[in-house]
Amino acid sequence: MANPSFIIVAIDGGAASGKSSSSRTLSERFHLLHADTGSYYRALTAELLRGGVTPTDLPGVKAALSAVSFTTRVTGRSAEIELSGHTIPDAEIRSAEVTAHVAPFAAIPEVRAALLDYQRGQADTARKNNFRGLVMEGRDIGSKIFPDADFRFFLFADPVERARRREQQGLQDQVAKRDTLDSQRLQESLQGAVLIDSTHLTLAQVVETLAAPIAARLAA
Ligand code: DC
Repeated sequence: MANPSFIIVAIDGGAASGKSSSSRTLSERFHLLHADTGSYYRALTAELLRGGVTPTDLPGVKAALSAVSFTTRVTGRSAEIELSGHTIPDAEIRSAEVTAHVAPFAAIPEVRAALLDYQRGQADTARKNNFRGLVMEGRDIGSKIFPDADFRFFLFADPVERARRREQQGLQDQVAKRDTLDSQRLQESLQGAVLIDSTHLTLAQVVETLAAPIAARLAA
């Protein structure tokens, strides 16, 4: 029987806006399955690059997509993507090479279409694994993947602060450049979402802002 209190939380926002840390914390607090869809696009990018495919080679992209299958490994509270049965190491999906190529691959409609049902299917993975819900972060979660999500948040932050966060994480990332490539999706996902400016907020403050309405709903 469907669990009536099962909730879906969509968290969209640009690179280094605070999505990952806050959605991880929410997943712990409310026992939600956490799906980082940026890591799905990154894993697929790594797989395509391994096969020598570039974002301008559309026939190569299509051929590679038709040969790959997507499954999920639930590790703790995290829904990790497996490509044709294997996961891609975190060091590779966060590498400068993948970071530089992920936005151009993610802009290809066939790439987005290939991941659409897979991402929606994470709600079933959460139910089957007895989570209380799903928290999914990305760029188009509240607009395309789960437009009927129970909660739709959009996080943003000043570009200087975002560059500082990435540097502190020891990562090379041109956040503003990636956001320009991702901008149409970002525009769409902020419509109707609760907007949160994380520039001057601590992680704890961001989490409190997101958690308050969720806690109220779950207590009702
Ligand atoms: O969240 P992230 O920076 O790890 O995401 C990596 C890239 O993946 C980002 O530049 C855009 C793309 N992406 C997307 O297009 N749609 C999503 N739902 C998630 C990520």
